[in-house]
Amino acid sequence: MRSVWVIAGALACLATAPARAEDPIVIKFSHVVAPDTPKGKAAEKLRQLVEERTHGRVKVEVYPNSQLYKDKEELEALQLGAVQMLAPSVSKFGPLGIKEFEAFDLPYIFPSVEALRRVSDGPIGKSLFKKLEPKGILGLGYWDNGFSVITANKPIHKLEDFKGLKMRIQSSKVLEATYRSLGALPQVLAFSEVYQALQTGVVDGGENTPSNIYTQKFHEVQKYLTVSDNTYIGYALIVNKKFWEGLPADIRGELDSAVKEATAYCNSIAEQENRDALAKIKASGTVEFYVLSTQEKAEWRKGLLKVHDEMAPRIGKDLIEAIYKETGVSATQ
Ligand code: LMR
Repeated sequence: MRSVWVIAGALACLATAPARAEDPIVIKFSHVVAPDTPKGKAAEKLRQLVEERTHGRVKVEVYPNSQLYKDKEELEALQLGAVQMLAPSVSKFGPLGIKEFEAFDLPYIFPSVEALRRVSDGPIGKSLFKKLEPKGILGLGYWDNGFSVITANKPIHKLEDFKGLKMRIQSSKVLEATYRSLGALPQVLAFSEVYQALQTGVVDGGENTPSNIYTQKFHEVQKYLTVSDNTYIGYALIVNKKFWEGLPADIRGELDSAVKEATAYCNSIAEQENRDALAKIKASGTVEFYVLSTQEKAEWRKGLLKVHDEMAPRIGKDLIEAIYKETGVSATQ
């Protein structure tokens, strides 16, 4: 059924391709989060920049909140050309057969945003983007969201508290292994399905960034929130390779510079956006807050590091070692 929609979208797209030379080139940019998030704001920034710089020769249509497609369908739609641009969380490339991106999901792999940036903006980030190309996808930049917090319908202070809880995860084997290692029951759900699943008790909790939790109102259907910073959530800004490479060179030049600027913008606002969202969740008074102390965080990290080893055969030991080298922190520290 999903594929039918994707194909229908692709056909609709062909039908709206520029008929005359003066018609603008349309870039459909689909994403699953709210406009008022780091990704949503950066998508809007990119739209403005592109339209300004190309003097309207290129029109970016942004479709937030899974309006067009849900998580996995998005990637199919991009490959088929029904949309031209996406910014999925890097956790979501596993089902495409590109497992290495799941390295980003390893618990506590990045000690800071700066360390993450050295990985994504350096040779590792570039080599990961190369892996997208045989799938007809081009990676243009890494967009930040931030580190996750846990929400649940019971207090989570220690790793033992996860036992038996049904936890929503993104479609990542690393996240699955993480929650299994805690005796929890991980359940993959599309982002657009999370609110209802939390509300109806299909799942007991989940992990996400404050900006995603606040804008989707997850905190209104959860009782507890733990500031744990256990998983990094970030995005790959990607395009349909054939479409992008087929654009006139002058237009591509303008688009490349707009992408660069929108990427810098996203990465400059993400931390503050999440801080603000966390404060708003707190002010709403709907959830009881628990902030892990430095000592507790170190215990969580220690308890979860075995997932790095367990996932090495899937992700690649060399890749994990290369990330440790770049961040300066290894599983043994
Ligand atoms: C999620 O599915 O939880 C997030 O990756 C959604 C997003 O794109 O931030």
